[in-house]
Amino acid sequence: MRKKRVGIVGATGIAGQQFVAALAGHPWLRVKRLAASSRSAGKPYGEALRDASSGQLRWWAAGEPPAESLDIMVENGAELVTKDLDLVFSAVESDAARELEPLYARTTPVLSTASAFRYEDDVPLLLPGVSMEHASLVKRQQKLRGWEGFILPQPNCTVTGLAITLKPLHDRFGVKRVSMVSMQGISGAGRSPGVLALDAIDNIIPYIPKEEEKVCIEARKLLGKASSRGVSEAQIDISCTCTRVPVLEGHTEAVSVELGKKATPAQVTSTLRNAGKRLAKLGLPSFPERLIEVHEDPFRPQPRLDRDLGDGMTTAVGRVRKEPLYRNGVKYLLVSHNTKMGAATGSILVAEYLIHKGMM
Ligand SMILES: NC(=O)c1ccc[n+]([C@@H]2O[C@H](COP(=O)([O-])OP(=O)(O)OC[C@H]3O[C@@H](n4cnc5c(N)ncnc54)[C@H](OP(=O)(O)O)[C@@H]3O)[C@@H](O)[C@H]2O)c1
Repeated sequence: MRKKRVGIVGATGIAGQQFVAALAGHPWLRVKRLAASSRSAGKPYGEALRDASSGQLRWWAAGEPPAESLDIMVENGAELVTKDLDLVFSAVESDAARELEPLYARTTPVLSTASAFRYEDDVPLLLPGVSMEHASLVKRQQKLRGWEGFILPQPNCTVTGLAITLKPLHDRFGVKRVSMVSMQGISGAGRSPGVLALDAIDNIIPYIPKEEEKVCIEARKLLGKASSRGVSEAQIDISCTCTRVPVLEGHTEAVSVELGKKATPAQVTSTLRNAGKRLAKLGLPSFPERLIEVHEDPFRPQPRLDRDLGDGMTTAVGRVRKEPLYRNGVKYLLVSHNTKMGAATGSILVAEYLIHKGMM
């Protein structure tokens, strides 16, 4: 198979860098173009990554930037020509995404980490192990908008681990109510505006603008059913509190669930451990060995120890126990990698799935 030619927009940012890192040596995808704002345009990638005043290399992902990316000339996202690309990964803020992504989607599929189009009726959210069958809705989007490509946003990084764990429980026992408190890593805020070290260290920030609304709406959409008319949301009551903690990467979440049927913690644990088995059979390059790892050790999961499980694609769960406040209640903690499964590599996995299905 010829490798698909990929453009990455927002390539200098936190999520964009994770795309560049994850695509180095990818068996199906090859980076052809990189783009960012006018601030970075016209410079080779290696230079665009440097802070203009201090000269510091602002590389965030693990290891060094891939050698083959350093000399690629960064283009202005607003002027990116997409005709000779098979696929665009977009990792820009929502305002920029709203303007840029429809331009690209006229000719080319766009997989985005931004929230701009997540709530539109003709836009599905695809999350491995949760909602991949919603992919058929892109045909409706193409017809309605007259595009050859489409826009497929990745769900919010905080809803990712939550929905991955709720889905198998919903399928087996039914999920009625969910309450969640998140402790989110600071890389989730990106570089701009980002979170100041002065505000974050030795502290917990009790509010992340718009995050709680996103989690509730997106969880219901992800767990909903797709039909030819769109996605009908799952009827689940969800309440959450999202906080920022002084952890670099990885979102930790304390989750309480009211199930439709009685289930022991052991049944919940085995249900979670079996998640994603069908998708695993497809042999997609970025699919982890296990979608969910459940620890018995009550001191796990921890972001530092667990965020890189399955190269950041496994959701780590622990402390599965009864939730006495709910009828048929269960509670657990999870850790999910916000810039890998929650952004770049999660989006790459969706691309692999669409290629496997012949949709790209
Ligand atoms: N960080 C995470 O954990 C995470 C997780 C899931 C989803 N997301 C989403 O991913 C997107 C990017 O987040 P981030 O954390 O990577 O942000 P970031 O670090 O601030 O990076 C933003 C990127 O967008 C580029 N950009 C800004 N304005 C642009 C424009 N008008 N045209 C083209 N490029 C433009 C920037 O280029 P310059 O360097 O040239 O300014 C930079 O490459 C956001 O929508 C965010 O919500 C982030």
